[in-house]
Amino acid sequence: MTSAIVTGASSGIGRAIAADLLASGWDVTAIARDPARGGLDGAHLVSANLLDEDEAVAAVAAHRERAGSLDLLVNASGVGFGGPVDGYPTKRFDITFGVNIRGMFLVTRESLPMLKASRGRIVNLASIAGLRGSAGVIAYTTSKGAVVNFTRAVAADWGPHGITVNALAPGWFPSKMTAGTLEAKGVDHFANAAPLRRIGDDQDLKGAALLFASDAGKHITGQILAVDGGVSAV
Ligand SMILES: NC(=O)c1ccc[n+]([C@@H]2O[C@H](COP(=O)([O-])OP(=O)(O)OC[C@H]3O[C@@H](n4cnc5c(N)ncnc54)[C@H](OP(=O)(O)O)[C@@H]3O)[C@@H](O)[C@H]2O)c1
Repeated sequence: MTSAIVTGASSGIGRAIAADLLASGWDVTAIARDPARGGLDGAHLVSANLLDEDEAVAAVAAHRERAGSLDLLVNASGVGFGGPVDGYPTKRFDITFGVNIRGMFLVTRESLPMLKASRGRIVNLASIAGLRGSAGVIAYTTSKGAVVNFTRAVAADWGPHGITVNALAPGWFPSKMTAGTLEAKGVDHFANAAPLRRIGDDQDLKGAALLFASDAGKHITGQILAVDGGVSAV
C-alpha cells in the first residue's frame, strides 16, 4: 500500500483527490482544521490549522508516527478572499499567504525526510490565477504565483533525491471557496470563457493528479499543468 498526506482534504478539490486515492487503495492522512467535514471513508483524520507552525509540524509527525512512510504529498489547503490592492486588509493578506504558501512550505519541509526515503512525489494546488495578473484578487493571485515558483524551487532542491514536485493549476471548479462567485455571476459566465465551454467537476483533476503521482510521471518535475477547459490557452 502506498501512503499519502492530503491537506485541504475536508472539502472541494483536496477532498476529491483524497477520495480518488482512497478508492485506489492508498493509505491517506487527511489534514484540515475540520477533516471530518469531508466524510472520507477510511482516511486517517488529522486536525491542524496550517496558520500555526506547531500544528503543521505536529500534523506531519502524526502521519509519520502512524504510517511510517510517505510516498505522496498533496498540498491542497487554500483560502481566497477577493479584493483589489487599494484598501485590501493586511490581515486577509497575511491569512492568504499564511495558508496558501507558508502552510504549504511548512508541511512540505516537514515531509522531506519521508519523501527522501521513498523518492516520493509532491502535487501542489496552484491556480490559473497564479499564471497571470487577475484583477480584483490581489492576495490570492499573488499567493498562487508564489506556489508556482515554490513548486519549481522545491523541484530544483529535491530533484537529486528523486523527488518530483509539480503543480496543478485549476480553472473554475465548484467548491466552498468558489460557491459565492459562481452563484453571483452564474456558471455560464465562466463556462463561456473556456474553449471547452464548461467548468471543472470532481473527476477532472483525477488524471492529472494520477499522472504526477504514478510511475508514468517519474521524469516530470517542476511543471505546472493547467486543468481549466482551455481558459489559459486563449
Ligand atoms: N475551486 C477552484 O475553482 C480552484 C481553482 C484553482 C485553484 N484552487 C485551489 O485548490 C485548492 C482547494 O480549493 P477548493 O476550491 O477545493 O476550496 P475549499 O473547498 O474551500 O477547500 C479548501 C480547503 O482548505 C482547507 N483550509 C483552509 N484554511 C485552512 C487552514 N487554516 N488550515 C488548514 N486547512 C485549511 C479547508 O479545510 P478546513 O476549513 O476544514 O480547515 C478545505 O479543506 C486551494 O489551494 C485553491 O486555491 C481551487
